[in-house]
Amino acid sequence: MEAIYLDHAATSPMAKGVVEAMIPVYEGIIGNASSVHSFGRKARQQLDASRQALAASIGANEKELIFTSGGTEADNMALVGVAEASQDKGNHIITSVQEHHATLHTAEKLEKQGFRVTYLPVNEKGLVSIQDLEEVLTDDTILVSIMYVNNETGVIQPVAEIGELLKNHQAYFHTDAVQAYGLIDINVHEQNIDLLTATAHKIGGPKGIGFLYANEKVSMSPIQFGGEQERKRRPGTENIPAAVGFELASNIVLETKAARNQQYQKYKQILTDTFTEAGIDFAINGEPGKTVSTIINISFPGTNVEALLANFDLSGVAASSGSACTAGSIEPSHVLSAMYGPDNPVTTNSIRFSFGLANTEDNVKEAADRIASIVKRLTS
Ligand SMILES: Cc1ncc(COP(=O)(O)O)c(C=O)c1O
Repeated sequence: MEAIYLDHAATSPMAKGVVEAMIPVYEGIIGNASSVHSFGRKARQQLDASRQALAASIGANEKELIFTSGGTEADNMALVGVAEASQDKGNHIITSVQEHHATLHTAEKLEKQGFRVTYLPVNEKGLVSIQDLEEVLTDDTILVSIMYVNNETGVIQPVAEIGELLKNHQAYFHTDAVQAYGLIDINVHEQNIDLLTATAHKIGGPKGIGFLYANEKVSMSPIQFGGEQERKRRPGTENIPAAVGFELASNIVLETKAARNQQYQKYKQILTDTFTEAGIDFAINGEPGKTVSTIINISFPGTNVEALLANFDLSGVAASSGSACTAGSIEPSHVLSAMYGPDNPVTTNSIRFSFGLANTEDNVKEAADRIASIVKRLTS
């Protein structure tokens, strides 16, 4: 029985050629990018080239790109770094109830430190509202952090409108673009985004590297202390093989964006057509016209997440009940709770399927058949 991976929003396999591109860097670029000798200069050159390519991928310049260990660190750095550096301008932060825990838990820590945090609600379709944001924005607001794409529902948030609204406000605009990067065209300067988070392992790059873009005008305190790397914003010896892997994965996703989006939309269709033909009861969570191609979140009335995931796994199908960080625990999804209310059965009977490099039309169809028969069995 073929194991079928439908959990690319948790992490993705490495794209073709990425491991092969990293090996010569491990073997041949042995210097520390901070060293002044020839080995160090060679490492610095390679790091700068990767930094430049990644910065260009979002319309930024290389001075604005800080390498991190991934999305979590970038989110922490954006929130804590900006909050601590902007205390003279105010102490109000706005985010939303459906953010990834890397943002939510950081915001909660800042609240304990004395910052005032407003958590915007989302509607039943999984969207934050510009009107809600406008209403809570004050002269005291220093940061607004709203994710680009929700990792459980795939719903694309009104990022351009938020950027426009904040253009002439002192508050910086941070967006966690982990689930958007490589699928949606991003130009941080045109979209008035001041800070943006991305991570390599969701796009076919290595785990353990990401970046935070921070516009040159943003003042930010470091959250770790040590050397002067990354323009004194993030200490520690840089991971050059991972930066090269990230750069290549980024080039691949940008070049193949249109074709992949089309392919993944087809996979969504195969899944829902199969469920409809099988006559099982299901509903899609989130505004279907406003989701990324890779993620579809489906509620199966009369079932529960634990039984579904365990049976899917036994049949060789890997999916998730939401954020990978909470998978394994049986807490209802905080995202679906925000959309439907905490007591709604949807919060405990919904599954996130996410497509990527490990999929073909055939294996998606095969997975859909297995899922449909499991749901039929569990609800009969
Ligand atoms: C929206 C979002 N933000 C942040 C993260 C964390 O990224 P990383 O695993 O690179 O720390 C994830 C990963 O699940 C995510 O989906």
